[in-house]
Amino acid sequence: MKVGLIGCGGMGTVHNLSLKALSNKFDLEVAAVADCRPEFLDRAAQEWTNVKKYTWGMDLIQEAEVDAVHICLPSYLHVEHAIAAMERGFHTLIEKPVCLSRDDCDKLMDAERRTGVRVMVGQVVRYFDEYRYLKEVYDQKTYGKLKSIQMHRISGDVTWGYEDWFHDEKKSGSVVLDLHIHDVDFLRYMIGEPDTFTVNSTSFDTGMVNQIVTSYKFGDVFAVVEGTWDVSPKLPFEAYYRACFEDATIVYSNLHQPALVVYHKDGRIITPELTPEYSAEDNTAGIL
Ligand SMILES: NC(=O)c1ccc[n+]([C@@H]2O[C@H](COP(=O)([O-])OP(=O)(O)OC[C@H]3O[C@@H](n4cnc5c(N)ncnc54)[C@H](O)[C@@H]3O)[C@@H](O)[C@H]2O)c1
Repeated sequence: MKVGLIGCGGMGTVHNLSLKALSNKFDLEVAAVADCRPEFLDRAAQEWTNVKKYTWGMDLIQEAEVDAVHICLPSYLHVEHAIAAMERGFHTLIEKPVCLSRDDCDKLMDAERRTGVRVMVGQVVRYFDEYRYLKEVYDQKTYGKLKSIQMHRISGDVTWGYEDWFHDEKKSGSVVLDLHIHDVDFLRYMIGEPDTFTVNSTSFDTGMVNQIVTSYKFGDVFAVVEGTWDVSPKLPFEAYYRACFEDATIVYSNLHQPALVVYHKDGRIITPELTPEYSAEDNTAGIL
């Protein structure tokens, strides 16, 4: 399979290195890369031997001969590129948030139906081992019924974006669509649609929301979820949940060691063995 990588910044680099690792196991290669910043373009291209370089994503879509594209552009550019890629018959992976409005979502869904290509979105949390574990114990009622869950995803200020696009609400959708969306997606995937929710938020000096705390009610289960881009770029990133079931409480944090612990009501403390969905010897991919 030949892949075109569009956008070689922070997340594009993760995709590029992940595709490189996968190419050791599967018949795939990145045959085309696009980025309007030459240093990022060259760095991505040097991972591959027969790769064509494009400055603009649209040029890659119009000219490259590939089977699939990964769209890792700033969020406000996803829709036009994704629709153009689908119309050229490319299977399309779109980073999250796939789009920033309901109308754009309808356009993307329409293009997917019309073109018949395979489309995937970058809502990755569903695939993380600790969250797959949580969904499994929820579905199987391993520890009884879920009573409540607290989740958060807290990041330092996002200062690395191309032309500072994260700090323009029209381009990123703020922390709400960029970061909070991960936990909301996971909750809807695990529990379903909430019946009600209430929201509190704070903003940067510019007025753009940088912290959102939402309480969701799903029947008699409640969830409190926080998404924050801190004022300081130095605050360490934390993804966290504490899920309170009838018979045990499960706590996960990427900052804890061990990261995932089950506190059983009889006093036992269990560190679950996680089974990776996919095992690879190479874990060199990571956001820069
Ligand atoms: N799934 C996740 O967990 C996750 C994590 C981080 C970021 N993301 C998403 O990935 C996307 C990219 O984020 P990022 O952090 O990599 O941003 P970034 O600014 O670091 O990278 C975007 C790249 O696109 C390039 N670019 C801009 N316009 C272009 C165009 N028209 N043609 C070609 N290149 C162009 C820029 O030069 C830049 O290198 C965003 O939608 C973001 O929300 C997802």
